[in-house]
Amino acid sequence: MEESVDVFKRMAGEKAVDYIEDGMLVGLGSGSTVYWMLKKLGELVEQGLNVNGISSSSLTESWAREFKIPLTDFSDVQLLDLAIDGADEIDPSFHLIKGGGGSLVREKVVNAHSKKLIIVADQSKRVDVLGKFPLPVEVLQFGWQMTANKIVELGAKPVLREENGSVYVSDNGNYILDCAFESIPDPENLHNKLKQLIGVIETGLFFDMVDMVIMGGPEGTVVINK
Ligand code: A5P
Repeated sequence: MEESVDVFKRMAGEKAVDYIEDGMLVGLGSGSTVYWMLKKLGELVEQGLNVNGISSSSLTESWAREFKIPLTDFSDVQLLDLAIDGADEIDPSFHLIKGGGGSLVREKVVNAHSKKLIIVADQSKRVDVLGKFPLPVEVLQFGWQMTANKIVELGAKPVLREENGSVYVSDNGNYILDCAFESIPDPENLHNKLKQLIGVIETGLFFDMVDMVIMGGPEGTVVINK
């Protein structure tokens, strides 16, 4: 089963490079599905495709360097041409939960400044209503317990993320609270409530951003336009 998920991720990731054109400035998302996009893009760059990428995490940056994808930053940039990113959950309106890999803040900055956003995922990420996947919320280290208490008042059970027995620290030096809500039928409303809490840096709810979803599954890749 795990093996098929990996195959589906690879199919979706590789398909996304079809939408990258010569001369584009591309937002490089994060996660194991995006890995396959980066690998394929590296092959195209080797064959002469001219692109520049902006990474959404330090792990993506290291993969991009491994695959020799030219990187740049936001200096002198108005908008990116295209961003390609993964997701942890996708609802029928293309609202997303992201941040399973801990890169939600930079992903949101990159995706919010792109003309077009393509999400790549295996089919298991599709849900009717968001919320089965605990919502990642990036919070300031200082006073994180108080921030967590406020999130409990919104109906969640927040858990401080750990990795290899230590508290996980994001690329931005913050903590992540994985917040189990029963369900998230109105992502924008919940996002706004969370953002009002002192100590919350950003939430893993992404809404009204996605233009296309490329899903890998047993039938191959399915491309769904918004
Ligand atoms: C990273 O923080 C996430 O938002 C990823 O994009 C998301 O977790 C999807 O990851 P996979 O492609 O590894 O499932």
